[in-house]
Amino acid sequence: MLELMAWLETSALAEFLRGLGIWTYGLLNLAHIIGISSLFGAVLLLDLKLLGLWPSIPAASLIRPTVPLAALGFVLAAVSGVMMLSFNTTEYHGNPFLYVKLPVIVVGLVNVAIIQRLAAWRRAAAGLPAEPGDARTLAVFGGLSLLIWLTVISCGRMIGYW
Ligand code: HEM
Repeated sequence: MLELMAWLETSALAEFLRGLGIWTYGLLNLAHIIGISSLFGAVLLLDLKLLGLWPSIPAASLIRPTVPLAALGFVLAAVSGVMMLSFNTTEYHGNPFLYVKLPVIVVGLVNVAIIQRLAAWRRAAAGLPAEPGDARTLAVFGGLSLLIWLTVISCGRMIGYW
């Protein structure tokens, strides 16, 4: 792990970013926050819907705007996150919050891949009538997603306090 961290810290990207000046880290942090808020704002709406809130709003009407917004937010958070990490990677060596956060992000992406393959999700996204059991399936995955992204945010916030 330490070798990987040292590699990132001494990479051409890290040297380039550190050479840009004192505002760079702050601006990357700002991009990270904008990414996180777009991702989590969208995920929160979608997951609460999957958990059964707002029954009068068709799921497809929420899925359409929230999924691309969450994807865009994730890309921004991931790109800025790796760039921030490259500034002083080895200082995070042994930081349990980072070691929990990164694998949980992978679990979150796997959860997204599974949800999108569910017949219940496909029916909901296409605006088709739900079949028995759909609501429960979607609620389970929506609840799981909420738990995952809350864990990622909590770990991210705590990294700096270790
Ligand atoms: C590959 C993906 C990511 C990497 C490498 C990464 C890395 C980082 C780093 C290095 C920090 C600064 C820690 C510090 O010293 O205080 C940070 C902060 C943070 N990250 Fe990430 N991150 C990633 C994705 C995400 C995602 C997807 C979320 C949320 C859904 C997230 C949530 C946070 C939060 C809440 C903070 C604290 C921001 C602050 O208080 O200023 N991160 N992240």
